[in-house]
This record gives sequence, structure tokens and C-alpha cells, in this order.
Amino acid sequence: MFKLVPNFSLRHNNSFGIDVTANYWVTISTLRDLDEAFTKYPHLSGETKMIIGGGSNLLFLSDFDGVVLSPDFIGYEITYQDDQVIEIEVGAGVEWDDFVAYCVEHGWYGVENLSLIPGKVGAAPVQNIGAYGVEIEQVIVCVKGLNLETGEIGSYTQEQCCFSYRSSIFKEKMLNRFMVISVVFRLQKMGELVSAYGDLSGMLKELDEPSLKNARDAVIKIRRSKLPDPKILGNAGSFFRNPILSAREAASLAEFLPGLPLYPTSGKEVKVAAGFLIDHAGWKGRKVGRAAVHDRQALVLVNLGGATGAEILELSMAIQQDVFEKFGVVLEREVQVVE
Ligand code: EPU
Repeated sequence: MFKLVPNFSLRHNNSFGIDVTANYWVTISTLRDLDEAFTKYPHLSGETKMIIGGGSNLLFLSDFDGVVLSPDFIGYEITYQDDQVIEIEVGAGVEWDDFVAYCVEHGWYGVENLSLIPGKVGAAPVQNIGAYGVEIEQVIVCVKGLNLETGEIGSYTQEQCCFSYRSSIFKEKMLNRFMVISVVFRLQKMGELVSAYGDLSGMLKELDEPSLKNARDAVIKIRRSKLPDPKILGNAGSFFRNPILSAREAASLAEFLPGLPLYPTSGKEVKVAAGFLIDHAGWKGRKVGRAAVHDRQALVLVNLGGATGAEILELSMAIQQDVFEKFGVVLEREVQVVE
């Protein structure tokens, strides 16, 4: 059965906690639900559509004049396994961290470093979630879903997803046009932990033979120490992407800013820590009205309570301008702004 609510408050469906409404909110657990909803309420077809998973990467500037589809497809199905690997199809509506916990419990390697990332499984490939040296693209076999324009069910192979740093075809060309139904992951039964990342490597080095559970616990501990819980303080994780510079630009910036963390990418470019730049420009902990820069991680903007999307956007633009004036670096938003 689908659930349709008109004039729906989105406050609890965007992790910034911005108080806006949508014309309609429709929760669907099966494709039949979607058919039924559009048959029973034909005027929905004329509404602008938006898909919300956990709403953990969105910044609303105003009420949404359209229908929000909330996919609630749940369940796990093993589609292949041998001695080394297991492939598992997971419903888009499953909480991402529940899936990670499930994998760790079963001894499957691949997603443990992505512990505690908020949101649903269906949203994870959209922005190619990543943390502590792992990006979800590394474990995806394919993404299945519905093309809302043609009504066709289709599957994108890993390659067709066009993954890049915190992006994919679903966040670009197919944004709000393709509704993820399930994701097929390939995990390792006899894998190795990815423990090179600074904070994590420090914690795991203290253990003799760190297990999957140790890695998950360490990631959870690091995240809790730096990142605000959206249930308590509205936020959308990193507000900006870490900028990618040419090796030469990065080297001259590091000369000007000793200690600047540099992460080489697969190409010749270098990713630099935006949080370090924002922090060193003096923004960490700064409040502007009801919006603020988090006091433990400058890459995260927070809603102190009752902030509008415009207030948060304004703060983000002041930071972008200041970082550009001080360091000549353009910061790009990671969060998706909904106008
Ligand atoms: N730093 C500062 N001051 C700050 C924040 C960071 O000096 O206020 C320095 C840190 O000391 C560290 C470096 O910057 O040396 C990097 O910081 P951190 O390890 O916290 O990671 P990040 O680069 O800021 C990225 C992801 C996070 C992910 C972490 C861990 C992006 C945009 N963000 O943050 O992802 O959890 O690495 O892998 O790539 C997200 O996407 O929402 C997110 C939280």
C-alpha cells in the first residue's frame, strides 16, 4: 500500500531540519504502489518529482512545489557467492548503516569504513558516499531502478553509473529521473581492512589483529567525535567537496599553509582538505544568525535551530568567498541545493 500525504512538512526528512513543505509526499514499498498512487491521483503526473532517500545531502531554500517520492523497498537477497566473494542485492529503503552492520556481522569486507554514514542504501550510489579511504563505487556491481520518464525498469552497471568523487550519473544527468529500487554489492569473504587513512590507522595500529568489528567501531568512534548527530544538530555532513588541484597548485598552497593535508588522486592531481582551509581562514565554530560552522569539523555547516536554507546558503557563500580571497581556492558544494 502506498501512503500519500498532501501538504507534507519535510522537516524530519532533511537532515538540516529545514522547515519546508512539499505538495505531496508518497511512500512506496513496491512498484505496484507507485502505479496505484498515480492511477488513483492522476494529477500527480503533472507535478515535479523529487526522490528523497534519507534527505541527508539536501538544502531546501523554499517549499517544494511538487511530489516527493520516498522509496521504501526493503530486503536483502544473495545473488551469488563462492569461497571468496558474495554478491547481495539490497533494497533502496534499507538504512545504510543497518546494511553495514549486517555485513560486519556476517564477516563480509568492503563497507566497514562507511559505517554510520546517514541515509538509505538507495541514496548511497547517487553521491558515491565515501570515507576513510573507501568509496561505495568500489563495491557496487549494479544499480537497479525505474526511469520515471519512460516507466522502464533498468539496471546501470558499475561503469554506467559514471562514478566520480561524491557524484554519479544519478546526481547529474539522471537526477530525479531515475528512482533506485535496489543496489547489488560485491563484498569479500576473506578481505583486508583498508586502514591507511590517518585517524583510522592510528586507532587500528593499537590492536594486534584488528577485526572487521574493530574497524567499524573505530570509524564510529572517530565520526562521533567530529561529526554532529543530525538528530541533535541539523547538518548534511561535509558541505563542500575537498578541492582537487594540480600538483603544482597544491605544492605552492602547502608552502603557504604548512601542515595542509594533501591526498594524491589516481591521476596527477592532488586533493586538499577543505576543512583545513576553512579552519585556517578562521571560520571554525563561527555563528551567523541561526547557522554555524561546526566547532569540531569546519567542513560541516550546522543548523543551530530554526535556520532557513537561505541562512545556511549565505554562510556557505561567505566561506567560499573568504577561502577564495585568502587562498585562491574555489570550494564547490557537495550538498545539493533545492530551490
Ligand atoms: N581539518 C582541519 N580542520 C577542520 C577539519 C579538518 O584542520 O576543521 C583537517 C584534519 O585535521 C585532517 C584533514 O583536514 O587532517 C581532513 O579532515 P577529516 O579527516 O575530518 O576529513 P575531510 O577530508 O574533512 C572527508 C570526507 C568525509 C569523510 C572524511 C573521512 C569529503 C568532502 N568529506 O572529510 O565525508 O567522513 O573525509 O574519510 O570528502 C561527507 O562526505 O559528508 C563526509 C563527512
